[in-house]
Amino acid sequence: MTLIQRAALAAIATTTLAVKAGEVEVLHWWTAGGEAKAAAALKATLQAKGHTWKDFAVAGGGGDNAMTVLKSRVVSGNAPAAAQIKGPSLQEWAAEGVLANIDDVAKAEKWDSLLPPAVANVMKYKGNYIAAPVNVHRVNWLWVSNDAFKKAGAKVPTNWDEFFVAAEALKKAGIIPVAHGGQNWQDFTVFESVALGVGGADFYKKALVQLDPATLNGATMSKVLDTFKKVKTYTDKNAPGRDWNLATAMVIKGEAGMQMMGDWAKGEFVAAGKTPGKDFSCVAAPGTAKAFTFNVDSFAMFKLKNEANIKAQKDLAAAIMSTDFQEVFNLNKGSIPVRLNMNLAKFDDCAKLSSKDFVETAKSGSLVPSIAHQMAVPSATTGAIQDAVSQFWNDDKMSTKDAQAKIAAAARTK
Ligand code: BGC
Repeated sequence: MTLIQRAALAAIATTTLAVKAGEVEVLHWWTAGGEAKAAAALKATLQAKGHTWKDFAVAGGGGDNAMTVLKSRVVSGNAPAAAQIKGPSLQEWAAEGVLANIDDVAKAEKWDSLLPPAVANVMKYKGNYIAAPVNVHRVNWLWVSNDAFKKAGAKVPTNWDEFFVAAEALKKAGIIPVAHGGQNWQDFTVFESVALGVGGADFYKKALVQLDPATLNGATMSKVLDTFKKVKTYTDKNAPGRDWNLATAMVIKGEAGMQMMGDWAKGEFVAAGKTPGKDFSCVAAPGTAKAFTFNVDSFAMFKLKNEANIKAQKDLAAAIMSTDFQEVFNLNKGSIPVRLNMNLAKFDDCAKLSSKDFVETAKSGSLVPSIAHQMAVPSATTGAIQDAVSQFWNDDKMSTKDAQAKIAAAARTK
């Protein structure tokens, strides 16, 4: 072969590679410490397949900002290849006709046999896969600073009475009892754990999944709201507007005693070099040990035109469900793998507890979708109830009765 022939061959090889390699623009809101590490694992997985990652991060815990930006991008005909969209919203986006059918990937990778059926159904629209799930987050956790509790001589609470006893002890010791960030989605996150703890799983389902008017207007709901509002009295005056990870940092440093937050908070503890059991404890939110509010993160795939980018998008979907990715991603994210039958040897006790409770609550009927994290009801209804809950949290003059009426009215939002 002459030099020129060799050069020509090399050029052809590069072009073929270039045609195969695509770009995937990925919208997500993972900008805090543990979240960013998890997002980096996703990026590395895609890059290992020879594709280019175009980061589309929109800061803002809970994803409200990201969803607003996504809407304007899609409306202007400029959708990203993949976007972090969850729960019933997946169906709403699919109904707009903008999501891609990724059944070929799902069939080749046998997703139907690797996912819990309840999760697989959410990832499908009219029987076709339109999204790939990455994890299972548990929302009903209480994160505890072992140092702060030791200083205060407080006992880790298992029910609401014990919670307020511990909060008093922390307060007396000069420690902020509850680390909170006053943003609507964080208020709502606390609210749903209080609802589950005070009312139990059946109440939670009737009130916050079925939106049953009698339950929303009933006596248990009123007790939930009173307890919720009492929690606020143990937060600090700088809570309004604070980001969730800054609230977690207060617990990490022992400035605050506890935080009610999903297990993405564990990603923060771990990223800060903290060890569960030793530096901090993960326990179920008061009264919720036998229940589980689940929050599954997933990536919806948008319809694309460019062949190479479609290939890259499918490679991303396949990689997301691989055992290697599910392990490294979830170790950083604080969640557990969504893929069934994974070896959890590298995971900590919080993750092992979560995994055991996920299976057990699925059997007992107390595995419930997180309303605060868009798993339970349509997005418009979620938003309306969330706003009503935060109005009550923020307005110390609003009565429980008025709040209850507002929430019940918000639940009728379609
Ligand atoms: C998402 C998590 C994320 C958290 C805080 C939740 O709604 O499911 O992945 O870490 O919000 O941003």
